[in-house]
Amino acid sequence: MKIKSDFLVIGSGIAGLSFALKAANHFPDKTINIITKGNKDESNTKYAQGGIATVYDLTTDSYEAHIKDTLIAGDYLNDPEVVEMVIKQAKERLDELLAWGVDFDKNEQGRFDLGKEGGHSKNRIFHHKDITGFEIERSLLNKVKNHPNIHFYDYHFAIDLITEHQVFGDLISLDSDKTVFGAYVLDEKNKTVKTFIAKYTLLATGGSGQVYETTTNPFVATGDGIGMAYRAKAKLADMEFIQFHPTALYNPDESPAFLISEAVRGFGAILRNDKGERFMQKYDNRLELAPRDIVARAIDTEMKLQGSKNVYLDVTHIDYDGFVKHFPNITKKCESLNIDIRKDYIPVAPAAHYMMGGIVVDKNARSSIKHLYASGEVTRTGLHGANRLASNSLLEALVFSHNAVKDLVKHYDENYKLPAIPEWIDTSTDRTMEKILITHDRNEVKTIMSNYVGIVRSNERLLRALRRLYVLYQDNKRLYDHAEITTDLLELRNLITTAYLIVEFSRKRKENKGGFYSLDNIK
Ligand code: FAD
Ligand code: SIN
Repeated sequence: MKIKSDFLVIGSGIAGLSFALKAANHFPDKTINIITKGNKDESNTKYAQGGIATVYDLTTDSYEAHIKDTLIAGDYLNDPEVVEMVIKQAKERLDELLAWGVDFDKNEQGRFDLGKEGGHSKNRIFHHKDITGFEIERSLLNKVKNHPNIHFYDYHFAIDLITEHQVFGDLISLDSDKTVFGAYVLDEKNKTVKTFIAKYTLLATGGSGQVYETTTNPFVATGDGIGMAYRAKAKLADMEFIQFHPTALYNPDESPAFLISEAVRGFGAILRNDKGERFMQKYDNRLELAPRDIVARAIDTEMKLQGSKNVYLDVTHIDYDGFVKHFPNITKKCESLNIDIRKDYIPVAPAAHYMMGGIVVDKNARSSIKHLYASGEVTRTGLHGANRLASNSLLEALVFSHNAVKDLVKHYDENYKLPAIPEWIDTSTDRTMEKILITHDRNEVKTIMSNYVGIVRSNERLLRALRRLYVLYQDNKRLYDHAEITTDLLELRNLITTAYLIVEFSRKRKENKGGFYSLDNIK
């Protein structure tokens, strides 16, 4: 079945939805198809807690300060022009969210209640209690629902981008320019593969935290966009830089890990080791509010020193009513586990949280493939460098989706004709595959990545990871070529590819920076 539109949006987090809304407003006579795997609202966006970093009032904050904080956190591997562009656009994008109905908290004086997080020199985080992402996702879905030219396909899984390779086969030389014409998509409920054809495609598939055992990312974050882009030969960069959030709730039975927002440390929480001692003073003079890579490594070191599986966040000294008002969801979660935050410390441990690298895009969100835009966590824009400053990613997605639409307004080609696109060819011959094989392999990827490609890496660990991933790749390829296509199988394919890329990029980096740290690079 062929389904045509002017624009195809893959992913329904903040990047995909904000792009779709804007494209619908600017191109009222064009059609926009959004496809998303699973539920419409399931995304990293939905779970964002802390909020959006924005310099809003130039009498109390400055662009220069936010720029400097971003560069320091990124270990100066950021692209300074991109950093400046994003930070100076933040207020406009935030005003737009307000106009779309997002409710940011205000204080008793009626001013925005601005939170603080690690690496920020000022309080500049706009938030909705401790469920900012949920509020944003709700508002955007509500707006999208009312647009007659946006069509939503939930439970639709993008398998691969369609480029010249699928259209002209072997006639295309490997190094010729590529163009995207849409995507092959599995209708997860009807189990058929549909051909979504579009003049322009936005890839907004989010992150890949699920390659690790312990992650704050929901189950949908399986690096699908990275896998698709890699197979289509798009340019990727910085895949070695993985951000581990220092303080996910330590609750081994729960997956994904529940986040204890960095804003809690911004509110005064103290980190303590297994002996109850405060320890951040040994590692950085910014203490608990040092950038995330530093705090996560300090916790990792303390856990290894003490032989413990977690450290603790102490909020017992903080005004309880004030805490509950700002962090109702975190308080409720602790209560559900019989943690009384007035007297008990909260057990926490680092968890894979964010992927700094991804598809290389320019300031207008254009990838190296023609007609393929990308926005959000799946991209490498140059904003984050080696380590993302807290609460800069929702902002990044808004800015790049905005710029993509602006670019399309300038360059949309009414006369552009798509080639004839072939339908998907089903090559599967085996419908009896045991699902448990996929479950085992998925668990194995996670174990390999957590054991060998975590906060602290080494050449030997990376080599072990590479060898083991290669075996999984071969097994997966055999299944992919012969077995019935399912969501699990496709996710595993992308998890293996993403894991492999993280390892390969790590093996090439010879200097410790931000979210990459190897024992072999210590001078
Ligand atoms: P997502 O929001 O992840 O959306 C991706 C979408 O693509 C999903 O709908 C997914 O189902 C869909 N998709 C994926 N693969 C496919 C496929 N093959 N086919 C079809 N659809 C697909 N950032 C901040 O700035 N501030 C915060 O406070 C903050 N807190 C966070 C807290 C948590 C617990 C987590 C996990 C992240 C947090 N982040 C925060 C990071 C931020 O939430 C993400 O970087 C951002 O939401 C990414 O948005 P996105 O639109 O790129 O991707
Ligand atoms: C948090 O609330 O700690 C997450 C913020 C972020 O990841 O930007």
